[in-house]
Amino acid sequence: MLIKPRRAWDMPERLATPEDVFLYRRALLGAAGGLIAGSLLGRGPALAAAETGSAYPAPRNGAYTLDRPVTPEASSGAYNNFYEFGTSKTVLPAADALKTRPWTVRIDGLVEKPFEIGVDDLVRKMGLEERLYRHRCVEAWSMAVPWTGFPLAKLVALANPASGARYIRFETFLDKAVAPGQRQFFYPWPYVEGLTLEEAGNDLAFMVTGVYGKPLPNQFGAPIRLAVPWKYGFKSAKSLTRISFVAERPKTFWEGLQASEYGFWANVNPAVPHPRWSQASERVLGTDNRVPTLIYNGYGEQVAGLYKGLEKERLFV
Ligand code: MTE
Repeated sequence: MLIKPRRAWDMPERLATPEDVFLYRRALLGAAGGLIAGSLLGRGPALAAAETGSAYPAPRNGAYTLDRPVTPEASSGAYNNFYEFGTSKTVLPAADALKTRPWTVRIDGLVEKPFEIGVDDLVRKMGLEERLYRHRCVEAWSMAVPWTGFPLAKLVALANPASGARYIRFETFLDKAVAPGQRQFFYPWPYVEGLTLEEAGNDLAFMVTGVYGKPLPNQFGAPIRLAVPWKYGFKSAKSLTRISFVAERPKTFWEGLQASEYGFWANVNPAVPHPRWSQASERVLGTDNRVPTLIYNGYGEQVAGLYKGLEKERLFV
């Protein structure tokens, strides 16, 4: 991830205010009028357009618990990575330009029959549940959020992959007219991520369509994104338009930029530093706390078995 130099004139308020609270306030002030401010509070145009809006809040699945409080939306919703809309964490006003209805997702590659499905039809087919998940960014910050969505395994079953499929490739929308970041030619757009089919079948792999009991606000990756909480956050690709079942390991966006720092596996491990910083601890958004980072972000019991026999791979980069 890029590290932007601090501007000297930002210092006094940044020193007085936690960064994410500061950024949230700035996003509110900078947003063009009530429309965008409204979406900050979860009442924006994108949310109003979701046909399945009445499915939120969805029943919580109590099997997924946290070791820390849920991060306030004022913090997590104002400190986002969404390079399509810029490299700062204050992507919220720019991301609001993304029109998330109508929105279709193409399921293709090595499947019985490729198809396209509207995101609301997908939600109706899959059903929704809420899960409390930790999220650990490779930049050593973290949050804990109530995602709403459905298990990725259900989508895999719907797609009915052929026996040759070994990986799933996730692709984000591509629209330079809406996403200023996509006009930066040195990034390998569109944003692509990948999982093995075994990883996709793990209970924790979750397709997310909502957060905090409502449809996803744009900056979180509306209308549909991935959450794989045992991996660094960049694996959880946002605003997906295509999900392909493939035989070869997909080349990911971050590998295309800097493979030595951001690999395919990217499992969280406090003992394996990023080449430029330690991964031993993490700053918890919305607090002044740093807490120790846990192997597989605390989900080792559920996922460590996925990597038996793969010890020679760069599992933690
Ligand atoms: N997906 C897309 N399409 N573009 C991005 O820039 N950033 C990733 C991931 N998914 C990113 C993306 C990174 S680095 C992180 S940490 C998470 O989204 C951030 O998710 P959040 O904004 O909901 O916290």
